[in-house]
Amino acid sequence: MKLTIARTALFTALSLASLSPALADQTASPDQRAATMLKRMSLEDMHHMVQSYNDMMALQQQPGGIGAAGYVPALPKLGIPAQQQNDAGIGVHNYPIDQGPGKQPAHVRGEAGNTTPLPSTLAIAATWNPQIAYEGGRMIAGEAHRQGINVLLAGGMNLTREPRDGRTFEYLGEDPLLAARIDGGEIRGIQSQHVISTIKHYALNDQETNRLTVSSNIDERAMRESDLFAFELAIEDGHPGSVMCGYNKVNGVWDCSNKHLLNDILKGDWKYPGWVMTDWGADHGVMDAMAGTDQVSGIDAGSGFSLGQSSSTFGAPLLQAIGKGEIPRGRLEDMVHRILRSMYAVGLFDHPPVIKPLDVEADALVAQRAAEQAIVLLKNEQDQLPLKSDIKTVAIIGSHADVGVLSGGGSAEVWPIGGPAIPAVKGPDWQWKVYDPSSPMKALQKLLPNAKITYDDGTDPAKAAALAKSSDVALVFATQWTCEGVDQPNLSLSDKQDDLIDTVAAANTHTVVVLENGGPVKMPWLSKVNAVVEAWYPGARGGEAIAGVLAGKVNPSGRLPVTFPQDEQQLPRPQITNAQEVDYNIEGAAVGYKWFDKKNLQPLFPFGFGLSYSRFDYSDLHVNTQGKRVTVSFKVSNVGDHAGMDTPQVYVSLPGDSGEAPRRLAGFEKVSLQPGQSRTVSVTIDPRLLATFDVSGHQWKIGAGSYPIQVGHSSRDLALKGEAAVVASTVAP
Ligand code: GLC
Repeated sequence: MKLTIARTALFTALSLASLSPALADQTASPDQRAATMLKRMSLEDMHHMVQSYNDMMALQQQPGGIGAAGYVPALPKLGIPAQQQNDAGIGVHNYPIDQGPGKQPAHVRGEAGNTTPLPSTLAIAATWNPQIAYEGGRMIAGEAHRQGINVLLAGGMNLTREPRDGRTFEYLGEDPLLAARIDGGEIRGIQSQHVISTIKHYALNDQETNRLTVSSNIDERAMRESDLFAFELAIEDGHPGSVMCGYNKVNGVWDCSNKHLLNDILKGDWKYPGWVMTDWGADHGVMDAMAGTDQVSGIDAGSGFSLGQSSSTFGAPLLQAIGKGEIPRGRLEDMVHRILRSMYAVGLFDHPPVIKPLDVEADALVAQRAAEQAIVLLKNEQDQLPLKSDIKTVAIIGSHADVGVLSGGGSAEVWPIGGPAIPAVKGPDWQWKVYDPSSPMKALQKLLPNAKITYDDGTDPAKAAALAKSSDVALVFATQWTCEGVDQPNLSLSDKQDDLIDTVAAANTHTVVVLENGGPVKMPWLSKVNAVVEAWYPGARGGEAIAGVLAGKVNPSGRLPVTFPQDEQQLPRPQITNAQEVDYNIEGAAVGYKWFDKKNLQPLFPFGFGLSYSRFDYSDLHVNTQGKRVTVSFKVSNVGDHAGMDTPQVYVSLPGDSGEAPRRLAGFEKVSLQPGQSRTVSVTIDPRLLATFDVSGHQWKIGAGSYPIQVGHSSRDLALKGEAAVVASTVAP
């Protein structure tokens, strides 16, 4: 009897296989399914997969386009779905279509394409909470999926070597471990919705000045221990379906033509199984295929519109090269296999997008929770914050704080549900400056119903000062708009905002500054104000999050993911030049706080810093070493009178100054504690954080010795100190 059942089951399986390969394959691995599909594909079918059309203007040269940045039409006879590749990491970008001077842009997907902006990616890093990153990624991918998108070009994580970088807001700060843990969370969240995440821009695309041509020059060891280490850890954590190679060169070789970066390291050492797509126009010739590029992005769909340097790199030239034997057919098969296996692995075949309305309220709450955990309290003297519930008069000054909060510009910009709070302003090129329609003032009024809250736009400092003078407290909102394609000229606030803050602070000693900015800024007025709240670009419910912190409904728990310098002179490169080469060997792997520690510089605010309305103590440090496995445990206690969250940080120093800098972040955990509550935190240090990269030996090398361990409230406030006795060891690259 049993035999009959087994035989029947086998027959059923085989017949399914003949009927619907996709169905029969569902138990097979992504690679097996890709291999099965590949066998059924002709040369033309495979060639079809390795280019995406630029459909940003929905020029409909290719039927089925929905206005995404990259569109690869489906192959229905094979059951291969289309790839709709859309930006990006803060929310689903609705590509703007300029309507001419003085007019608001139209959008490729119209008003129906408006979506929910998260806080900036740097703000998500400031939460130090991979779960928040996961929830954010899950939300934006859910919105993407409901709009027919199955590839998000999200996962930007270039290290903040250059705090004036216009895309700092889109990335995850200056430390490889923090950036990777947050990016891993975002990538997992995105892909949980059957949308492929694309980690970018590989690699060292760390400034916008001359971004299409500049060469990032850096030694192998330094690169491996910094920017590449961030990508390595994030890829291990998140398993992104795709990697985007960047516009720039590394040591004189284009990212997308860079065999060492792509074949040797990404696909060789790290055994990355997914596919490499170019940035839009980052292709430089058909031999990019032999360097490790698998797909050229955004080619001309027949309209003459493309961002491509040469929009046919993988077009006829690729077929010709294969025909001549210059490129093996097997390479094309590998390119397509990588694309297919990611599509299977993330569920693009089995869970195609279903167009439906967005869950706007639920999605906005995800953004609000993230913003509430991202806000960093930088200064709070005389217990200025939280505002007392019986406060009578409040002045709110500047930055359209009566109606909205600022967001960043470029491909990461999100045109919000309901449209911007005020008419968007055109940026230097194709970017738009958008205020999300979330009013700090209205939100604060709800939390302080008995207070008289008055807004002044701040354009006339004397008038603003008069209002401040007549108020119990003055809240000055200051902004720094940053965008893709342009770096900041300096770290100063623009448009005389420093003067406005000075003037208001002179009129009211109870002045609070709220910052909405893309990255670190200077604060010449810092000593004159009582409190500073770093709100970043706080997203769809940024007003509610800011008000929650100001009124004490939310206990701030953000910690800086980037160092705030005193001024530009403290940076490895005091000026950004127009040179076509940038020398990252000045700091090497000592990026951000590591540079400040190495040079013994005092920053304005250090990496990892953030205040709370409560206080947290650390105690009972234990360091346990078993070979190259070092586990650090300690107790965190809330010794204040507010419930709150804290992020104790574990730093490690290599013995005998053998590291790139005095210390490295080696672990962290965000904990939530009631007053009087304690918790034991345990962190196991990745052995590569005890190592240096041994280029000649092509391995991570751990030296024997005593490794100082520190547990801190920030990189400069190290409360507990211990040691780990480590034996010599190695880790494969
Ligand atoms: C842009 C950006 C990249 C983006 C792509 C598609 O130039 O560098 O991050 O995903 O083009 O818009």
